[in-house]
Amino acid sequence: MVVGVAGGIAAYKAAELVRLLDKAGATVDVAMTPRAQHFITAMTFQALTRRPVFTDLFSLTDEEKIGHIQLADAADLVVIAPATADLCARLAAGMADDAVTSIALATRAPVLLAPSMNVNMWNHVLTQRNLTTLRDVAKYQIVAPGEGFLACGWTGPGRLAEPAEIVEAAAHVLSAQDLAGVKVVVTAGPTYEAIDPVRFVGNRSSGKMGAAIAAAAQRRGAEVRLIFGPSGVAPPVGVETSHVESAAQLSWALNNAVKDADVVVMTAAVADFRPAKVADQKLKRGAQQTMTIELVANPDLLAGLGKARKGKRPFLVGFAAETNEVIANAKAKLVTKGCDLVVANDVAEVGAGFAVDTNHVQLVDANGVTDVPSASKAEVAHRILDKIVEMRTKPAITPKPKKR
Ligand code: PMT
Repeated sequence: MVVGVAGGIAAYKAAELVRLLDKAGATVDVAMTPRAQHFITAMTFQALTRRPVFTDLFSLTDEEKIGHIQLADAADLVVIAPATADLCARLAAGMADDAVTSIALATRAPVLLAPSMNVNMWNHVLTQRNLTTLRDVAKYQIVAPGEGFLACGWTGPGRLAEPAEIVEAAAHVLSAQDLAGVKVVVTAGPTYEAIDPVRFVGNRSSGKMGAAIAAAAQRRGAEVRLIFGPSGVAPPVGVETSHVESAAQLSWALNNAVKDADVVVMTAAVADFRPAKVADQKLKRGAQQTMTIELVANPDLLAGLGKARKGKRPFLVGFAAETNEVIANAKAKLVTKGCDLVVANDVAEVGAGFAVDTNHVQLVDANGVTDVPSASKAEVAHRILDKIVEMRTKPAITPKPKKR
């Protein structure tokens, strides 16, 4: 495997990435751009990999046997982390003017990009165009950057994905594309049910779990459509996303999306109730000490899909966010909502459920319960998809009712 390192402040994180890949048993050759060498030395990577580091396209020793072509040919995967805005632009233009871009252009192995840059560079239409070209034309896989405080002082998307997440993405690129051609619809995030023009009834869902499922499914070859409630989380790069706000909007988008879907994963925390009336103007506090808002039930979208489907298409995955009797409630939802699989999520558990980056879930189907131990939401997403793939290829053998 080749790890290409470009010249951004996140280059230091590439050392941890290389260490983790080495620890996982990969043979890692590192290539660096000249600018990367301003941020981290080749010596660091040489020490971590115990192999020469490729830094110079014009080196008389490295290039004695056309080193960059040898590395490109031998690689089973090329991971570029960090991929700066400049590097993405050069890759998208098909340039090969340094060790990293030359290997990327020459290889026939899959290429995994982990972009990292200033938030405004990330959001720039040219960067997004370049990423679209790399994804759609060159078929590169992209590990979306995280959000947060950036070294440049701005806050937002642009932070290099965590090394463990890049390792996990690399493992999945190397693994079979077991969802190739499968149409997967994922719902994520909360819904906001308007009270008046400034207030709403909502919930604590951040959209992280659903976005992780969408990203993981895309990496495994699925054609993914994400229906995303209001969330500060960036949708995965390249995933067709519909942004919605209320349960009614989510329902409309879902009904359109499911028409030709093979799998629907309902991660969204859809509001069970909405205000009976939405005030046209901001409600005034006045002198009153109490206020009553009448709520009416929203339709149960998942149960509606369960009832409407003919046969077993689409394969339906519901979530059950519970604070007590988690498995019993999840088992009940499996039946009442007509799902194939319910992901039981104890949202009272520390490090699980709403807003955090980790989760611990149990997969409940007609044949039993499978525990997915606490892990990053990206990892949990893959375990859920593993189960979906397994169940779709080997349909569950529903135990026959016992004779009395
Ligand atoms: O977004 P995060 O911060 O990462 O948090 C993840 C999560 C906790 C939101 C997620 O893991 C989770 O548990 N999602 C389900 C939340 C939920 O609404 O659970 P529920 O038990 O109330 O609903 C059961 C199922 O019915 C869900 O699949 C839900 O999408 C669906 N539903 C609910 C109400 C409704 N009116 N229509 C529905 O389709």
